[in-house]
Amino acid sequence: MTRQGHEPAAPGPAPRGTPGEIAVCTLRELPPGERREVDVGGRHAICVFNVGGTLVALRNLCPHRGGALTRGFIGPLVTAEAPGRFRYEREGEILHCPTHQWEFDLKTGCALHEPRLCAKTYRVSVRGDQVILHVHEGGPRR
Ligand code: FES
Repeated sequence: MTRQGHEPAAPGPAPRGTPGEIAVCTLRELPPGERREVDVGGRHAICVFNVGGTLVALRNLCPHRGGALTRGFIGPLVTAEAPGRFRYEREGEILHCPTHQWEFDLKTGCALHEPRLCAKTYRVSVRGDQVILHVHEGGPRR
């Protein structure tokens, strides 16, 4: 199991361009497994993740008790068929909230054990070589 850094990369550039859109960084600056936190001027930043080539964005606010969700470590889904017989699946897709260690599916923003409890998601697109965060549009739940 690999654990990725708890601290995201430095915040992206200030908002510019079309209202409601933020050019976060270039696609090369956000390779698979990395994240980039964006200060959107509110109480909570938004973090863009590259999850195995899929770009997703979550508000840095845990739906459990308000922890800094997007600063948690990222790892696999761990299951066990029997005591001591662990299986590691979906490497790099599970985000652990640093406050109480609840696990969230990065691609949906929802808690694994309580799928009705989800972090706010945002749409992310790529225009040219730029990663674009759409701050007024929710991302698709899968
Ligand atoms: S605040 Fe995130 S798990 Fe409790």
